[in-house]
Amino acid sequence: MTAPADLQQLAVEIAREAGELARRRRSEGVSIAATKSAVADIVTEADREVEQLIRDRLARARPDDGFLGEESGAERGTSGITWVVDPIDGTVNYAYGIPSYAVSIAAVSGEPDPATWDAVAGAVFNPVSGELFRAARGEGAWLGDERLAVNAEPTAAGALLATGFGYDPTTHAGDLARVARVMPLARDLRRIGAASLDFAFVATGRLDGYFEPGLQPWDHAAGALLVEEAGGRVWREGGTAVRRLFVAAGPGLFDRLWRAASGAE
Ligand code: IPD
Repeated sequence: MTAPADLQQLAVEIAREAGELARRRRSEGVSIAATKSAVADIVTEADREVEQLIRDRLARARPDDGFLGEESGAERGTSGITWVVDPIDGTVNYAYGIPSYAVSIAAVSGEPDPATWDAVAGAVFNPVSGELFRAARGEGAWLGDERLAVNAEPTAAGALLATGFGYDPTTHAGDLARVARVMPLARDLRRIGAASLDFAFVATGRLDGYFEPGLQPWDHAAGALLVEEAGGRVWREGGTAVRRLFVAAGPGLFDRLWRAASGAE
């Protein structure tokens, strides 16, 4: 079995190269290639090109591993490791020129099913800020030389929280009801627009907590590992719920945020 640190190193190298390609393509202009689950759910030419680059690099370095990507689908491997990839998380930000998007690459072991897999290593790279967040199971989460730690407790002013909304307009009423339940805990609420960065910001303590239903495997595979390795907790609503709720926070906030976000209180 390959060491988590080696998988992390590969994720970091490829995320940097992929992020630079995304940034270069952005400066040349964005072209929307298609819409997906809803008219607001877009894929750009760059998403496809960047995912292909990542897929090629991984296939060359680790031909026996599986692959699960947002744009090009799944391929089973034989090694027990699957790479879960969002080439550009925050595609709508990317399309509008908002500099909050990231390449997210994770290596998971076990069946390539988020309900049961174990995330082993991951990297989240924002090529505009140049920040690269990384984690390997059991070895902490890092931003450069800084070991990351979640906020143990929000301050007396309340928790700085983030959330996201699905692309499907029929889910928005439920999303807003969830926000109303959570606001009594909050000093303020952010909607950054890239789930991998929301998780990374919880890991760094820039946010106290994050919640969002309906995340896809590539939105959370690397980010959830960052939070856990920074001492935080991540809850994924179990079962086969179509819009599985994710909650990530430091230990002092987690239970309260989970209860409010899930409607358990
Ligand atoms: C989306 C972003 C967004 C989140 C959505 C995701 P994409 O990913 O992470 O913040 O609210 O749930 O689908 O489509 O930009 O890769």
